[in-house]
Amino acid sequence: MGPRDRSPRGGSRGWPYPQRSAIEQLSDMDREDALAFMRRTNDLLMVHKFGVDELMTKLRIWSEEFDSTHEHDPIEHISSRIKSLEAIAAKLARRGLPIDPVSAREHLTDIAGVRVVCPFISDVYLLRDLIRQHQIEIVQTKDYIAAPKPNGYRSLHLIIKVQVHLSDRTELVAVELQLRTIAMDFWAAVEHELLYKSGGEVPESFAAELKAAAEAAAGLDTQMSSLHERSEGTPG
Ligand code: GTP
Ligand code: MG
Repeated sequence: MGPRDRSPRGGSRGWPYPQRSAIEQLSDMDREDALAFMRRTNDLLMVHKFGVDELMTKLRIWSEEFDSTHEHDPIEHISSRIKSLEAIAAKLARRGLPIDPVSAREHLTDIAGVRVVCPFISDVYLLRDLIRQHQIEIVQTKDYIAAPKPNGYRSLHLIIKVQVHLSDRTELVAVELQLRTIAMDFWAAVEHELLYKSGGEVPESFAAELKAAAEAAAGLDTQMSSLHERSEGTPG
């Protein structure tokens, strides 16, 4: 007997009994609506997870292939996240949009997020070019490397449409892809931490120093790229 069967009212009624009882108290129509809503919410999260899975597989293939054929792996590491339901609802509410899965699918492009950290700036654009070459639709580009944010933030942000082949149909799923170097990632992680600790706004006195730190990080990227280019021409 598994732990789930220990409820005194378990057995054929299944688990969890109390929740089932609560939903049974709803009218037939309300119950249908509630279940349909839950199902659509589940589908929304699931299809975005599949979008992330598809993209991660492509990136991992390119990473391994480049490492093998060019002796250089353009990917240092990859992370991903699916936005929480709470954050989805909060963003829709902030924009005055209906809070439901259909509206989320229509209006939000950052439910699925993939972050790729690369050794060099050239790797960032190499990956962008590979995405283009494979006819993956790029619906939005924000190049905060060419034009950093006023606070010093740098990264290349793409919103792409990933094909997800379900058993009976193919869906195009929006994924926010952030590409950045190790130096940019270091800066963004620390800035995020400071922002979080200071309740959303970096104190005025910190802002200039943070921006200077972002520029120092960009300087390291340039220096490392130059070393990399010179090492390419050197027999190893
Ligand atoms: P959101 O509505 O917050 O998604 O912003 P947006 O639609 O203007 O998108 P943008 O491309 O500017 O930023 C999206 C994401 O990039 C954020 O959720 C962060 O992960 C990252 N990001 C953008 N700006 C900063 C920044 O100044 N600092 C850090 N640490 N991360 C940032
Ligand atoms: Mg966002």
